[in-house]
Amino acid sequence: MPKLLLLPGDGIGPEVCAEVRRVAAALTPDIEVTEAIYGGASYDAHGTPLTDEVLAMALSADAVLLGAVGGPQWANAPRALRPEAGLLKLRVEMGVFANLRPALCFDALADASSLKREVVAGLDIMIVRELTGGVYFGQPRGIETLPDGQKRGFDTQVYTTSEIERVARVAFELARGRRNHVTSAEKSNVMESGVLWREVVTELHARDYADVTLEHMLADNAAMQLVRRPTQFDVLVTDNLFGDILSDAASQATGSLGMLPSAALGIKGKPGLYEPIHGSAPDIAGKGVANPLAAILSFEMALRWSFGRGDIADRLFAAVTRALDGGARTGDLGGTMTTVAMGNAVLAELG
Ligand code: NAD
Ligand code: IPM
Ligand code: MN
Repeated sequence: MPKLLLLPGDGIGPEVCAEVRRVAAALTPDIEVTEAIYGGASYDAHGTPLTDEVLAMALSADAVLLGAVGGPQWANAPRALRPEAGLLKLRVEMGVFANLRPALCFDALADASSLKREVVAGLDIMIVRELTGGVYFGQPRGIETLPDGQKRGFDTQVYTTSEIERVARVAFELARGRRNHVTSAEKSNVMESGVLWREVVTELHARDYADVTLEHMLADNAAMQLVRRPTQFDVLVTDNLFGDILSDAASQATGSLGMLPSAALGIKGKPGLYEPIHGSAPDIAGKGVANPLAAILSFEMALRWSFGRGDIADRLFAAVTRALDGGARTGDLGGTMTTVAMGNAVLAELG
């Protein structure tokens, strides 16, 4: 039986994952869903956000779906043991270097965006975020005390040729199945890693993907262009940190951060990691009002990319579209529905 490991995590994570469970039970009863403790919840229970047992479960599943981790109650935990550290470790151990974050504006939601309808109508961007390198992992990093008593905090941004090339390749391949355009964003005007990034992407393009149009854009300009005219983007490939920031910005153009799913992929045949791009949302956690669609659409991506069930993924995507067409809206989309009611709306459309 194909296996999905659910790691609900903290805050709204368990609330949105409960809706994924219901959808999975209705749609794919033949996929075995197992749940395990992770994040702050695991830190509280076991003193670590990711136990070896749960990591082993993740590596032997066909796909892993995360809710979210973190929250103010763990702000003072040792940095290496904070919930977010468990997430980063999971990404690295699973080797999922390419994070696909589709920012898609459902037609029914064009008026839910904080941008004008005419700016976001038809918006369909595939953000490809490098996920296992860059400043998130570069060494050295730390906080040290200087002789004068001041402190100095430092991080290192670092990319190798192969790290850039493999994620750029994913972007070019995806573009071929879409509108054949890749925008690569970096800061080659100020960063050495940005210079290398641009060089490697340019060379790979010339060598293997000359049929795809390639545009280089400085990351700050990319942020501006995402709110000016987001429909100019097809595939947007960028590093770990810029990808984190640009995808949150793009999400709001689609209506809400609560709408954006993601798929993190690495080596063929290895499990994929699926997660909404939003966090644990401490401000609304426990109220039952979080939008579960980013999590449900992450399951849709898992069906497509890990379970080879594109047909069932299409059905789920169509059900979400119809639920939104029918007016289903959680608070972030300007409505009043609870998390469970949104789950019900999708289930009703699945029939
Ligand atoms: P956040 O994404 O949790 O929330 C930002 C804002 O968006 C909040 O107002 C929140 O209520 C709203 N929001 C997010 N998801 C929503 C949803 N599904 N429905 C409705 N509204 C939603 O970001 P934050 O507040 O900066 O971070 C909170 C915690 O989450 C931090 O500890 C952070 O490290 C963590 N975090 C975890 C992940 C992850 O697990 N993948 C991602 C981002 C942030
Ligand atoms: C995300 C989150 C994470 C990141 C944090 C929680 C480590 O913001 O998945 O977008 O920065 O990658
Ligand atoms: Mn983020």
